[in-house]
Amino acid sequence: MSAVSPFRYVGGRLHAEDVPLDDIARDHGTPTYVYSRAAIESRYRAIVGALGGIEHRVCYAVKANGNLAVLDVLARLGAGFDIVSVGELERVLAAGGDAARVVFSGVGKRRDEMQRALDAGVHCFNVESAGELELLAQVAAEAGRRARVSLRVNPDVDARTHPYISTGLKRNKFGVPIEEAEGLYLRAAAMPALEACGVDCHIGSQLTDPAPILDAVDRVLALVDRLDTAGLRLRHVDMGGGFGIRYRDETPARPEAFAAAIAGRLAGRGLELVLEPGRAIVGEAGVLLTRVLYGKRNGDRVFLVADAAMNDLIRPALYQGWHPVLPVREGAADGSATVDLVGPVCESADFLALERPLAAAPGDLLAVGCAGAYGFVMSSNYNARPRAAEVMVDGTAAHRVRSRERVQDLFAGEARLPE
Ligand code: LLP
Repeated sequence: MSAVSPFRYVGGRLHAEDVPLDDIARDHGTPTYVYSRAAIESRYRAIVGALGGIEHRVCYAVKANGNLAVLDVLARLGAGFDIVSVGELERVLAAGGDAARVVFSGVGKRRDEMQRALDAGVHCFNVESAGELELLAQVAAEAGRRARVSLRVNPDVDARTHPYISTGLKRNKFGVPIEEAEGLYLRAAAMPALEACGVDCHIGSQLTDPAPILDAVDRVLALVDRLDTAGLRLRHVDMGGGFGIRYRDETPARPEAFAAAIAGRLAGRGLELVLEPGRAIVGEAGVLLTRVLYGKRNGDRVFLVADAAMNDLIRPALYQGWHPVLPVREGAADGSATVDLVGPVCESADFLALERPLAAAPGDLLAVGCAGAYGFVMSSNYNARPRAAEVMVDGTAAHRVRSRERVQDLFAGEARLPE
C-alpha cells in the first residue's frame, strides 16, 4: 500500500485512519471489509482537481464498490456515477445521488432498465450496438421522452493489461467499431426520440501507462471532427475509467496524471470531459480483515487457513491478482516462513495469497490490502457462506455500513416442493 495509505501501524497495531483494526474485528467479527472515508475523498478530489482547466464530470464507476455509504460519500462531494444496471441506479438514488449526473453504460441493457432510467432522468445512455440504439429510440418514444445518447466506440487499441479486463480491442464484446460509428450517429440523428450528445470509450482496467488511453483519445477526437464536418456537433467525450493502482510493484501513473493528460488533449475544443474511474477512487481505500483459523503443512507447502475465502475476494483466483497481506499486530508475521494464505472453500483456486513470507499463527488477524475495489461487489455465497460485513472508518469512528449476512438470509427466497 502506498505511502499515503490510510492503513498504517500506530503503537504496533494496524489502524484504519484512527481506528485499530483489532477493535473492528472485536466489534464486527471477521471477515469484514474496512473502508476509509478520507482515502475515498482524497482520491476523488485529486482527480477532479486535475481537471480544473476544462468542463468536466467525474462519474464514479459504481461497479467497483456499490456500498451505499461509499456512494453517499461521493454524492456529497458532487460526484456523478457510471452505472451498468438498474440495480446500480437504485443504489445511487438510495444513497442520495443525483440521476441527472448518471451515465448508463453496459452492453446488455433491458427495455425495463431503459424505461426506469428515462423516468429517473439519467444524463446519458452509453449505447453499445445498433440494436440497443433502436430499442432505446422506441422506448423513449413510447415514454414521450428524448434520450441523450453517446455511442461507446471501440478504438481498437491495446490497453496492455490482463486480457479479462481489457476491453478496447476488436475481439472484445464492447462498443461499436470506431469506423462504423459515423454511420450509426447519422442514423441516431434521424431518430427524433434520441439526442446524440457525446461519444464514449473505455479501453480496459488497471492501466499503468496513459499512452494507450491517449491513443484512444486521438482516435475519438478524429471521429468528433468527422461528425462535426457532417453537421453533427457532440457536446462531450467520455474516456471511461481504467486508471491503475499499485497492488504490488507496479508503478502506475497517478490517477490525476491520467486525468490531466486526457484533459490536455481536449483543451480549447469546447468539449466536456467525462471520466468513469472506479478502482483509482476506492481500491486503496479498503482492506479485507480476516482471522487465521489454522496452520498446516502438506508436503513442502505451508498453509495458513483464514476465515476469508475466494467467495469474499475472488481477484486472486480469477485474475491471479496479487494483494498485499499485512499482519494487524506488527511483527506477528515475522517473515520466517513462506506460506500460502487460503480459505475454507472447497476449491484449489481458493487462495488469497501464494508464497508469501508470513509466519502468522492461528488467531492472528491479517489485512488483505487494496481490496476496496472489486472486492465485496464480486463476492458470492458459494459453499453457503454468508457475505462479509462492511465497515467505514471516518477519523475515530467505525460505522457498520453493511451487516454480515446470516445463514437464514441465504435461503430466505427458496422453497421446498409442495407435498
Ligand atoms: N467504465 C466502464 C465502461 C467500465 O467497463 C469500467 C470497468 C469502468 C468504467 C471502471 O474501470 P476502473 O476505473 O475501475 O478500472 N473486476 C475487474 C475489473 C473489471 C472492470 C470492468 N469495467 C478487477 O477486479 O480487476
